[in-house]
Amino acid sequence: MTDKIDRFEATHMPVTVAGIDFHNPFCVGSGPTVKTIDMLRQIDRAGWGGAFIKLTIDPEPYISRIPRYRWQSKEKLHSFTLEKRIKLDEALRICEQGKKDVKVTKIFSNISYDGPDGIKGWIRMAKAFEDAGADGNELNMCCPNMSFNVEVTGETIEHSTGASMGQHPKLVAEIVKAIKAETKIPLFVKLTPEGGRIAEAAKAAYEAGADVVSSVGNRVGIVSVPDIERPFGNPQHLQKDFGISCLSGQWLKPLALLDVYEIRKVNGPDFSICGYGGMSHWKDYIEMTMVGADLIGICTDTIIRGYDFLWKELVKLKDYLRRHDYRSLNDMRDMLLPRVKTARDIEIEQAVAHVVSDKCIGCEKCISIGQCYAIKMVDGKGWEGKNKKGMIAEVNPYNCTGCSTCFDVCPTDCFEWQPVPKDRKKTPV
Ligand SMILES: Cc1cc2nc3c(=O)[nH]c(=O)nc-3n(C[C@H](O)[C@H](O)[C@H](O)COP(=O)(O)O)c2cc1C
Ligand code: SF4
Ligand code: SF4
Repeated sequence: MTDKIDRFEATHMPVTVAGIDFHNPFCVGSGPTVKTIDMLRQIDRAGWGGAFIKLTIDPEPYISRIPRYRWQSKEKLHSFTLEKRIKLDEALRICEQGKKDVKVTKIFSNISYDGPDGIKGWIRMAKAFEDAGADGNELNMCCPNMSFNVEVTGETIEHSTGASMGQHPKLVAEIVKAIKAETKIPLFVKLTPEGGRIAEAAKAAYEAGADVVSSVGNRVGIVSVPDIERPFGNPQHLQKDFGISCLSGQWLKPLALLDVYEIRKVNGPDFSICGYGGMSHWKDYIEMTMVGADLIGICTDTIIRGYDFLWKELVKLKDYLRRHDYRSLNDMRDMLLPRVKTARDIEIEQAVAHVVSDKCIGCEKCISIGQCYAIKMVDGKGWEGKNKKGMIAEVNPYNCTGCSTCFDVCPTDCFEWQPVPKDRKKTPV
């Protein structure tokens, strides 16, 4: 079945961003799945719009170790503690050969300069990729696995790359400006959410001439102890120490949506964003677009699923667009922005919870809700579902704040909303 599908047609959703005509807005993010020429060929055959080559560091990457990953499928959480970067000559070879071999996928660098030449070194790297035929450069201002990993422990390190730089808008702007002055191909800047200044750093990058801001790279964290009976066992296989982990995957999506929303909200509609973070399903692509993304970046899903799932998601996505009369995904860009409100401004409705008695099985889950003074168990009278004690739940509407927790804890979907009693004088706390 899969072999009969025309990948080109199934994945064709043309979009122009930063002057580049993409086959579709879907890009494989810089990471372990864009490390070889063969991978680029596979990405191209699967019909991806773009691919960002694995982080390339010049001179030699100062922390570059064999990979240690973990995929916690229940939590949809990917974590890595160790990762290999590539050297400039190798990445240039991949880019050059890749450009000859691919038919549809646009190829980008993902670079960090870490030598004594400062900005000149950054410019040299960017130019080298331009000469190798790259469709664009991407500055890595996001990797938290190198210097930033050390900095979170309170130690200092003589190097400063990735997330250590991306939090400093001035520094980002300085490098962007210098590279833009010396190269012609579009410049992407991939930012870190660490430090909480992503929209500000994006603003500085755009003002300095960046064509696209990519958001976001990994977050750092400590993944949970897998077996609390053996707390010194490590969550990562083949690793003796507990590591500071770089996190990604679907659990990241709500945070990633906020990062893109912030960048779009603060910088307005005229700039381009490549949205990353937990994109795993055609519905995720829509949500990311609705908060402001022009391109969709995907890394973890390609680690787990390979490359050839894209057309399947796009068949469903195109069907959705057709059913809702959208000509392209881009028609939905920014749609959610006016509906995202702060705690100060959210408009609310008033109602009280009510138990539909014949659905209640008397499980008592709802009466355990800590903040609720409205629910109690009462005589089940004639109701079928009552528990062994003959009881079912009931809400006192005079004590219900409408918080809605009961709707989410009830296993049998008992709760419905009813109007607030007319004689209720004030909202309970
Ligand atoms: C194992 C691994 C390695 C990564 N390496 C890079 C990298 O070299 N450069 C980069 O900019 N981002 C890198 N990333 C970040 C991803 O490109 C992406 O921004 C992030 O994981 C969030 O998206 P996702 O949830 O689709 O993975 C890496 C992610 C993972 C999981
Ligand atoms: S909505 Fe909140 S306050 Fe009202 S019954 Fe449910 S849990 Fe209690
Ligand atoms: S959680 Fe639902 S089923 Fe359980 S007692 Fe409450 S209303 Fe009844």
